[in-house]
Amino acid sequence: MTVAVTGASGQLGRLVADQLLATLDPAEVVLLTRDPAKLAVHTERGATVRAADFDRPEALVDCLAGVERMLLISTDAVGTRVEGHRAAIQAAAKAGVRHVVYTSIPEPSADNPSVVVPDHAATEELLRDSGLAWTILRNNLYADMQLPTIEQAAASGRLFTNTGDGAAAYVTRADCAAVAAGVLTGEGHEGQTYDVTGPAAVSASDLAALAATQAGRPVEVVRLDDEAYAAGLVAGGLPEAWAPMLVSFGASIRLGKLARVTDVVETIGGRTPTPLSALLRQDG
Ligand SMILES: NC(=O)c1ccc[n+]([C@@H]2O[C@H](COP(=O)([O-])OP(=O)(O)OC[C@H]3O[C@@H](n4cnc5c(N)ncnc54)[C@H](OP(=O)(O)O)[C@@H]3O)[C@@H](O)[C@H]2O)c1
Repeated sequence: MTVAVTGASGQLGRLVADQLLATLDPAEVVLLTRDPAKLAVHTERGATVRAADFDRPEALVDCLAGVERMLLISTDAVGTRVEGHRAAIQAAAKAGVRHVVYTSIPEPSADNPSVVVPDHAATEELLRDSGLAWTILRNNLYADMQLPTIEQAAASGRLFTNTGDGAAAYVTRADCAAVAAGVLTGEGHEGQTYDVTGPAAVSASDLAALAATQAGRPVEVVRLDDEAYAAGLVAGGLPEAWAPMLVSFGASIRLGKLARVTDVVETIGGRTPTPLSALLRQDG
């Protein structure tokens, strides 16, 4: 069975590629990326690496020749990526791909303020209406991306947040990759939507406790409203265009949209979900 991964040179894509190469015959692994040179090592390991760009849909069908299952990794073009995702799904259908797996987010519903919701909701709908077999992986926020917040709080003694008393079941990219590989190589996942989460819902107080352990001194949680949090992020050096996204993630956590914990990493990914504390130990 031949399996393809789009966006294979991205951080998640590489982790999925490694897992597939560890379990499948490399001749069954097709890695699609805008820049095949970045995956030269994977070519040496026996994978087929092909150039594919969702913004150049004319070439996509040929890239998917012989592929039975495809992981469609959502692109980083937030706000403008639905057309690319549509092109990838249409190309998959034309090329005879049977099953498409898509990386989404938990609760992509109208009452979730996360700015990435509209793209994911639209792509999920396209996939469900495509006539293809599908699986949706609703990956929680990456635990890996919380490390700078924890390190900053450890350094300053204060953790600024707009998450209120909310919590998120942060999940590592590696655990997300294990689940994606489990679905791509396993059976019984067609028509399923999975929340892919870490082992626990983690609040700002929990993050501050981790920072305090790291720093060896107390770390205070400073709870701000969305406006003050955005202003603080920009004053701290974050590019202004990025602030609304981070603020919206915090608001989403505050409303409980990311708190659900599942056992999907264990049951489908075949591994114990990684707690944030373990990432910090690796980092330090
Ligand atoms: N759960 C979370 O906390 C979280 C956080 C950030 C992002 N995400 C989402 O998860 C995805 C994977 O995360 P990541 O950490 O691996 O992100 P990343 O390292 O920034 O990778 C970006 C991905 O987008 C792909 N891409 C961009 N433009 C493309 C195009 N025109 N056609 C095809 N592919 C395109 C890239 O593929 P190539 O460069 O190989 O072509 C790459 O796989 C992100 O793209 C984003 O949608 C989730």
